[in-house]
Amino acid sequence: MSQTKIHRTLNGPSLESLGPVTAEEARLLEKLDLTRLPRHVAVIMDGNGRWAQKRHLPRIAGHRTGTQSARTTIETCARLKIEALTLYAFSVENWRRPKTEIDFLMQLLREYLKKEMPLLQKNEIRMRFLGRIDELSPAVQKDVHEAMEKTAGNKGMVLCVALNYGGRAEIVDAMNAILSERNGNRPPRITEEQLARHLYTEGLPDPDLLIRTSGEMRVSNFLLWQIAYAEIFVTDTLWPDFNRARLLEALVEFQKRERRYGGIHEGEPASEKPARVAGE
Ligand code: FPP
Repeated sequence: MSQTKIHRTLNGPSLESLGPVTAEEARLLEKLDLTRLPRHVAVIMDGNGRWAQKRHLPRIAGHRTGTQSARTTIETCARLKIEALTLYAFSVENWRRPKTEIDFLMQLLREYLKKEMPLLQKNEIRMRFLGRIDELSPAVQKDVHEAMEKTAGNKGMVLCVALNYGGRAEIVDAMNAILSERNGNRPPRITEEQLARHLYTEGLPDPDLLIRTSGEMRVSNFLLWQIAYAEIFVTDTLWPDFNRARLLEALVEFQKRERRYGGIHEGEPASEKPARVAGE
């Protein structure tokens, strides 16, 4: 039996940890195998603007309500003992938005970090931020560093907030980090493992499940390297409407997928050895 399996069996998630559930959630939980949950869930939280527009509200009202969906998703994933959750909060492309909206989003994040610190601590959540954090305002950088320091000792789920994040920028940053370690020496070939070690997600498992709300079929420069084998779940639900039942639905759907990683179906006859393994 693998280490992971033992860990899940002894300290695995329990339904009780979720507290009272609705009838819909109970039906979904019946279908969910708690021993086969994804290790890392990544979420593109899209549709805040459209949610607000439909209600004749300013876009920022959608972002504010979206923080409640973030709260529900974070707490549920932590209680299900998912190892890592990554939320796409602000991309390198989002600087193209009006300054008022950008300022609001940054303020909302700062408020969130202050207000939700007790919830993060209670659930033993460790925070990380993925992106070019040094380009953010000094006030945001201070709050981000404080949140990481305060939660550094927690042993539960790792919550990554992608902030001023771009998948291509991340790969460029990793390559530059590798080059700067070489001090001008003639380089040996770069390996996949070495590159992965220099990504913002260093030490985390790759996402098994990528959720995108509001129906767009795009990956939007999110975790480009890490989602190589992720199962993608797109829902028409707009992010502010994404509740616990919608999250459970995504997890149930994930468990229906057959993951082959480029190989073949488990039941199919295979030659004894793979003909060739990438990188060999
Ligand atoms: C996309 O919706 C959403 C964002 C760019 C921001 C997401 C941020 C939050 C929910 C705020 C809090 C985050 C955390 C981690 C607490 P959109 O504005 O692109 O929507 P649209 O496509 O309908 O216009």
